[in-house]
Amino acid sequence: MRKILQLPIAALALSAACVAGAQAAPATLPRLVHDGGHTALFVDGAPFTMLGVQVNNSSNYPATLKKVWPAAHDVHANTVEIPVAWEQIEPAEGRFDFGYVDTLLAQARQNGLHLVLLWFGTWKNTGPAYTPEWVKFDNARFPRMVDPQGKLSYCLTPFGEQTLKADKKAFVALMTHLKKIDDARHTVLMVQVENEVGTYGLVRDFGAKAQAQFEQAVPAVVLQHQKSPVALAASGSWREVYGDYADEYFHAWAIASYIEEVAKAGRAVYDLPMYVNNAQRNSAEPLAPWKDNFASGGPTWNVIGIYKAAAPHIDIAAPDIYNPESVQFDATLDKFQRPDNPLLVPEMSHAAGYGRFVYQVLGRGSLGIAPFGIDYTDYSNFPLGSKATGKQVIEPFVETYAVFESMQRLWARWAFEGRTHGIAEADDRKDQTIPMGAWTATVSFREWQFGERSWPNPPAEFPAGTEQPNGGVAIAQIGDNEFVVVGQHARVRIASTAKQGNGAMFARVEEGRFDASGHWVMERNWNGDQTDYGLNLTGHPVILKVRMGRY
Ligand code: DGJ
Repeated sequence: MRKILQLPIAALALSAACVAGAQAAPATLPRLVHDGGHTALFVDGAPFTMLGVQVNNSSNYPATLKKVWPAAHDVHANTVEIPVAWEQIEPAEGRFDFGYVDTLLAQARQNGLHLVLLWFGTWKNTGPAYTPEWVKFDNARFPRMVDPQGKLSYCLTPFGEQTLKADKKAFVALMTHLKKIDDARHTVLMVQVENEVGTYGLVRDFGAKAQAQFEQAVPAVVLQHQKSPVALAASGSWREVYGDYADEYFHAWAIASYIEEVAKAGRAVYDLPMYVNNAQRNSAEPLAPWKDNFASGGPTWNVIGIYKAAAPHIDIAAPDIYNPESVQFDATLDKFQRPDNPLLVPEMSHAAGYGRFVYQVLGRGSLGIAPFGIDYTDYSNFPLGSKATGKQVIEPFVETYAVFESMQRLWARWAFEGRTHGIAEADDRKDQTIPMGAWTATVSFREWQFGERSWPNPPAEFPAGTEQPNGGVAIAQIGDNEFVVVGQHARVRIASTAKQGNGAMFARVEEGRFDASGHWVMERNWNGDQTDYGLNLTGHPVILKVRMGRY
């Protein structure tokens, strides 16, 4: 953690007031700011936590938006991630229609929500489904990849010059329009370029142009950013440097280079932060060459370096998380949060067990998070997500988002200063510890609010809502001895690790809230049964401001 100061909450509240304040001039565009190893998304001049939702895939039409805003409001989101499809803005070549984009931004503003636009262009879940029809079926002008026998893949090749030119032209038109309508308002915070790129079933393009490139030397900038998983030649052809990984790594380079052209051209007209998302390869299993077990060439954890080298106008390679195993979840966050790659979880399943991960992701200082499929369009992406449709889809997130909502600006600043921590209950349900300077938090699960498991004859049953792993805790250390604690289905104990005094105890455990200007409003002080057995957080999250003392 950088700069552990005894920073009074009032000082933080002051900065939050400036952030939220009516006088704050929204002069600068949303941008990523890096400092001391941490990154923040600055919106109107100060750090912002994106409490996002991503809508279902076909909700990007004016008539459907009425089913989007109520869900975003009900769950206490501040940002909606929503597609803009190439097919809808350029249905006939060269004829652009931004009617939907205009309606979208106008309604987002009326609803007090920010947007992240998802550019569904050449690739959406690797395929060309969102390209206009004049692109989809013209193999000669917009070529597909081919296998070693010359058989066509469904996937458009990243070596299609006309495809790149056309995608870039449409994207630039979108960014130009966005600048015209949003430069002064900053409704749109970021843009995702393409969606879950890569190719299923074929490791790379074997067409003539691709093959000729494959035989060239690996560019020096790639060599600088991406080590080979196996010790081979330090330079040379892709095969010589990357061995059995060469085809996948080459395909990642080809797609990243294509995306770079699109992003660079878009940012030249309107410079918003941009990111790519990916359908992951398993982040917990040992690295092995591609075996048709994930989309080759996407920005999976093992090729982030290639994306950094080839696509400097892309700020973040971000994971879409649809595997609930806690070991994989942890591994994903570990692999994607790097000094050169800030953490952002732009998509996550909305199934029940994922609510707890919000604490872990935001506690680790993510720029934001967004469960996928949150709207009221009567669509469920079970089994990846929840079976529910309608109001039930928001249930795993609603109370968590509500507690973060009032302090999202403060939380973003604390995260930027390296003061935040977060964990989610693991599948093994074991206790976890969080080191915090001269203090350690120990988090346990499935506890009752009163008493100890070690007492004789502990109850055989467990609290409702803990049948499956469902606990999570996020803590911001806002001073040497002071913490903001939020969580659910967890017991938090804080102990001193400093060799000072005879012991430590709670000085204050205030339950309360942050008001609109970021000032703390104390509602009650927890003591007695509420603190004798640690801080017992139920399924109804609250904000606690905890001060520890030593005697
Ligand atoms: C990930 C994709 O990025 C989304 O567009 C959507 O298809 C979801 N998968 C469905 O779970």
